[in-house]
Amino acid sequence: MKRIGLKTALLVTMACVGPASAWDDTSVRNCTWCHGTSAQGYMVAPRLAGQRPAYLESQMRSFRNHTRDNPFSQQYMWGAVAALDPLAARDLAAYFASIPPKPANDGDPGLMAKGKAIYMDGIPEANIASCYACHGPNAEGVREIPRLGGLAYFYIKARLAQWGQGYHSGAGTPMPIVARTLGPDDIEALASYLSFVR
Ligand code: HEC
Ligand code: HEC
Repeated sequence: MKRIGLKTALLVTMACVGPASAWDDTSVRNCTWCHGTSAQGYMVAPRLAGQRPAYLESQMRSFRNHTRDNPFSQQYMWGAVAALDPLAARDLAAYFASIPPKPANDGDPGLMAKGKAIYMDGIPEANIASCYACHGPNAEGVREIPRLGGLAYFYIKARLAQWGQGYHSGAGTPMPIVARTLGPDDIEALASYLSFVR
């Protein structure tokens, strides 16, 4: 057991000696403790690797000023960023964005076609916008619009459901309106499809 523990600790340390090795290792480890080795996501904490740096920064601001207010955000992230100044947040965002992301591949493959169709075209008769229009052809995101490709099925599913339940992530962001009328089946299909996108 001891040996495994040490090995894991070494892996975590090694994962931090990446492109932005100027970044203080111990601070990164405060994050990868929950967000997983190489920040690829773990349990309810989403992957940060390869995420748009401007989006990561915007979310750290939203946790700090408590506008991102769902239960997991309150429970885990409000405290995690409470002492983080804007400069440190920017460095962390650049660091995590530079790590190559791995797709979670954990959705239902049988729902991929349906999910892709909604992603590309929306559901015009239900007034649901195309996701492609903002998140890009490969769900790669741009600026403050996040990369969705390869995020974990359960994370995407929970996020899409939460906007319909009245939670927020930032002031004036479009997602509460976009996701408001998505049905549970649409959400499962989208989350399944996106978990496989690389
Ligand atoms: C105690 C566990 C924990 C720690 C420590 C932690 N996080 Fe998180 N983080 C989470 C969870 C859980 C979520 C998902 C919140 C939700 O569901 O809305 C999250 C979400 C995020 C998000 C939003 C990602 C997205 O795709 O919207 C960012 C950015 C983030 N964390 C950055 C950090 C940084 C930077 C650190 C280190 C300073 C850190 N986290 C430390 C658990 C943690
Ligand atoms: C008008 C532009 C726009 C459209 C259309 C759009 N999004 Fe978004 N989306 C955003 C922006 C901007 C954010 C980040 C804002 C925030 O959450 O604070 C976001 C965030 C998200 C997130 C959160 C990701 C994370 O890491 O937590 C998910 C999931 C998401 N969108 C899914 C979708 C899906 C699925 C569709 C299509 C049904 C869609 N979006 C359509 C602009 C858009």
